[in-house]
Amino acid sequence: MRRQNFEELGEADRLLIETARRSSVNAYAPYSGFAVGSAVRTRSKRLYHGANLENAAYGLGMCAEVAAITAANSAGDYDIEAIAVVGFRFSTPPDVTQVVTPCGRCRQLIFEAGQIARTDPVVFSCSGDLEHIEEARISEMLPGAFGPDNLGLSQSWPQLRGQLVETVRRIEAAGAPSAGRAVKR
Ligand code: THU
Repeated sequence: MRRQNFEELGEADRLLIETARRSSVNAYAPYSGFAVGSAVRTRSKRLYHGANLENAAYGLGMCAEVAAITAANSAGDYDIEAIAVVGFRFSTPPDVTQVVTPCGRCRQLIFEAGQIARTDPVVFSCSGDLEHIEEARISEMLPGAFGPDNLGLSQSWPQLRGQLVETVRRIEAAGAPSAGRAVKR
């Protein structure tokens, strides 16, 4: 893990971190009073972002990293090379000075995306004021992780994904059932 100064980071990383922080304003966090924003950068250099989403059934809450990674995957752009996390307490008393690091589940999700993409994603863990930034590779944050390689899947996913794309192409080409066909016996 390396401590970083925001001003000394490259432009792409600063933009990633600022995007994560901006996303925190969309947190739905009435239970914890703790907002987290996250942004991922993919190999295509596009950015995707998300915020934490809580629930009255507490265990159903979702982390900001999940939202950001899901946004990238939903765009068909899952090759993640870097992710930033910015969090802070906004309820009284506010505290924007503590570094927020991804939880264990999020580390596993980042690891999976990295192994599929053949990257070792960089993780920026940041305090809300961006005075404290920790940079690490996901392999450092989750050593000895179990992933798709253990199941022999990293190699076969591109081909299996090809089958997925082909199946969608085929069912779309068949068209949607017409109203007439639906009532015909
Ligand atoms: N949270 C995240 O979204 N990401 C993290 O890395 C740490 C924690 C959220 C979950 C919950 O909504 C709130 O922060 C307090 O734990």
